[in-house]
Amino acid sequence: MSANGVVAPSTAGAPSRVTLSLGHLPSKKDIKAPWPRTPTRVDPNNPPWPAYRGYHEYSFAHATMSSRLPTILGKAVEDATRTLNDQSEEEQVIDLVACIERMGELMIDLSENKKLRPILDDGEGDIPLWNKEIAKYFQGKDFMNAPWLFAEAYKYRRLHECFSISKFWKDYDVFYRQKCDTFSRSSEAVFELSMRFAEPFKISDDLSAEEKLEAERLMFLELTQVCLWGNSTDLSLLINMTEEQIKALQSTGGDHLAATEKNILGNHLNQVWESVKEVRSKTGGRIDFVLDNAGFELYCDCVYADFLLQSGLATQIKFHGKRFAWFVSDVTKKDWNWLLNTMCYGQLFPNATDVELESLRRLGQRWKQYEKEGKWVYEQHPFWCTGYTFWDLHSEAPDLFLHLSRSDLVYFKGDLNHRKLTYDCAAPASTPFDIAIGPMASSAGAPKVVSLRTIKSDVVVGLGSEGDEIAEKLDQTEPGWKISGKYAVVLLSEGRPGEKVRFA
Ligand code: F6P
Ligand code: MG
Repeated sequence: MSANGVVAPSTAGAPSRVTLSLGHLPSKKDIKAPWPRTPTRVDPNNPPWPAYRGYHEYSFAHATMSSRLPTILGKAVEDATRTLNDQSEEEQVIDLVACIERMGELMIDLSENKKLRPILDDGEGDIPLWNKEIAKYFQGKDFMNAPWLFAEAYKYRRLHECFSISKFWKDYDVFYRQKCDTFSRSSEAVFELSMRFAEPFKISDDLSAEEKLEAERLMFLELTQVCLWGNSTDLSLLINMTEEQIKALQSTGGDHLAATEKNILGNHLNQVWESVKEVRSKTGGRIDFVLDNAGFELYCDCVYADFLLQSGLATQIKFHGKRFAWFVSDVTKKDWNWLLNTMCYGQLFPNATDVELESLRRLGQRWKQYEKEGKWVYEQHPFWCTGYTFWDLHSEAPDLFLHLSRSDLVYFKGDLNHRKLTYDCAAPASTPFDIAIGPMASSAGAPKVVSLRTIKSDVVVGLGSEGDEIAEKLDQTEPGWKISGKYAVVLLSEGRPGEKVRFA
């Protein structure tokens, strides 16, 4: 009898579940899921192809969410503690202790796989975007069952929140020391480039116009590869690398580059050259870089951007960085300033010769001059530090989309940007780049987009019509090929730059 006196029907002896026998019905068919999803059914929790999620055991998503991110957070706590131990003023000390405590809470949320809560309002421009996305698509979701890309980005945003709501430590960057440190450990490759580019480059006047163009083309192809492979030194993966291992990854010699072109599995290098030439023929235009990592990669990006300006392929370069510490090694304004200033005034390389140091100084001074003259512009839109992929760039950040649509060519650097371009989902490797990036290729006003990416996570597209077979073979012969950074893609979209965009 229940508390209100009603007698419940007896269940004694009843089967707990009724199981029907369906032996006389036709057998189940092997029906393929309709991928990609139709555009109206695509949303951040339902990408066009199946999402990667942390609960997929044995996946890189799982390894990242369950082990790499806690390790990264642990190192971040160590960094903040080191800073704490250097403080003298009580108010600052107490404020920083609170930040470290919040990092501890984040660690618990991550390791106990708590539900994703809204981000606290710290006045940053990305807050409405974060909390709208959480409210619309991720209520009740946790770190493991939300799509990996969103959950990983969310963790970095929560890490920023630990500091951004404080009084004295709002802009503290727990990865700053590490970022500076890898640049100082990259001396060989740094001077290899500075010794070649300290003086403005000049193609010999003795060459015919055709020969000059060919010399320029070869330079363009080599420097594009320098810019591409500069991405393999990403701190989140290479945290324990020795100097020797970093050197091997950063080798910038010509023979090495010819060999590495074999590892570019989706290779539109020649088409990118045709596109930049076209930009020059229109009196030289604007090229944008959506940056990835600070230190050595940023240095390579700048060498490349310098070449684009000097050769007249572009007249202005816009660089897009992050507003705060992001995916360990991404560039912030502070990292940008640090690089240019350390090149001009720093004492990072005790074993360098005077000539090497002078070459670095000259390069740094020239780059600072570009900034003063407005030929190089550094920007930091809040959208870059949200959980949205770039499929939503035109709808969630229309001002930024409009701004990019005025560019003649937009380079997206690195793995995370590539994941965001492609919605970070299991699209077949043969999927054409234009299809994989959806609205970034198909929306009216979409600029031409180049992705320069060393492959460091699961999503791989743009490998051509044989792409599925290539990927399958690598799966069998080289497990781990998608996270090693040994392979790369250089992919270009057509864009729809001729079409004007209008926003209500
Ligand atoms: O944690 C994994 C990841 O997000 C991968 O995308 C990549 O391996 C790394 O972090 C960031 O790489 P990148 O700096 O090239 O975007
Ligand atoms: Mg990065």
